[in-house]
Amino acid sequence: MPFNTENITILAIESSCDETSAAVIKNGKMLTNIVASQLIHEVHGGVVPELASRAHQKDIVRVVAEALSDSGIIKAELSAIAFTRGPGLLGSLLVGTSFAKSMALGLCIPLIDVNHMQAHVLAHFIEAPRPKFPFLCLTVSGGHTQIVLVKNALEMEVLGETADDAVGEAFDKAAKMLGLGYPGGPRIDALAAEGNPEAFPFPISEMPDLTFSFSGVKTSLLYFIQKHGEEFVKNNMADICASYQYTLILTLIRKLKKASKLHKINQIAIAGGVAANKGLRKALSEMAEKQRWELFIPEFQYCTDNAGMIAMAAHFMFLEGKFANQKVSPMPRFSL
Ligand code: KG4
Ligand code: ZN
Repeated sequence: MPFNTENITILAIESSCDETSAAVIKNGKMLTNIVASQLIHEVHGGVVPELASRAHQKDIVRVVAEALSDSGIIKAELSAIAFTRGPGLLGSLLVGTSFAKSMALGLCIPLIDVNHMQAHVLAHFIEAPRPKFPFLCLTVSGGHTQIVLVKNALEMEVLGETADDAVGEAFDKAAKMLGLGYPGGPRIDALAAEGNPEAFPFPISEMPDLTFSFSGVKTSLLYFIQKHGEEFVKNNMADICASYQYTLILTLIRKLKKASKLHKINQIAIAGGVAANKGLRKALSEMAEKQRWELFIPEFQYCTDNAGMIAMAAHFMFLEGKFANQKVSPMPRFSL
């Protein structure tokens, strides 16, 4: 192996969607994880790709400089530069990719191309308690809903995913319909805490195997809003949010239970932005107790998009000598 694996210091960049983030990891220990969230999308009620890439370009120099100064690491100490290659928005990915390539070229150090979904799973290795292989991970974000069999750090198999919308999308689109704005997930989560989850029954999808579907429940919410009218919705907002969220959570948990039984694995992890949902965390903790699962839930800052998880994945890749070359380009549809 041509690279020194005794003292590994990596700067990682994440720019797949609407967070510009940079992190520094030294020998597997996270030194800093800086995240700049793009507030510009709020007024548009969702991420506008063109605005996202422009905001990345505006923020990336500052975010990387802050990560370096906060970690106390100088550029000459870096062993590699890592970046998110995909999946994500092409324009956004291009900013992080180009920046990382230039920096690696300038410093004459290797480049590491990270899969964003793999990184969400590997966020579990940033802090203790860490799961042991093999384990199951429910990765739930704005673009994905997957149950992943994690055989080792770099070998993962998707056991089931969504046939239509991702669960994060089901949160965001519902919030838009309810007039709650963007980002919808955290807003529904907060309101749901005040409401009754059994106030209004929404249908749970009956997809086979480990396949998810969230378009049906989303449509039923639309019909519910049309039927009851604006005034009723306003006066019952907390109950509606609690009932809708409860349906999404139940769908996720039922499939997870099925996967655990099928694969006889009781080490269960959750990852991705929706893993920040308080209702999901609580429901999973209760299920874990009943099913005797060993449950792993990452800290909030490592659930939503962040470069810390990219840095963690890059550390594992460095150990295996998995580097990219300067010809590498972003992959908006990079599968696991
Ligand atoms: O992983 P992530 O930050 O970005 C993607 O890779 O997509 O996930 C973003 C998604 C959004 O749909 C957002 O509404 C959702 O995660 N989210 C939540 C919560 N916090 C973020 N959904 C439900 N409850 C939350 N507390
Ligand atoms: Zn993500």
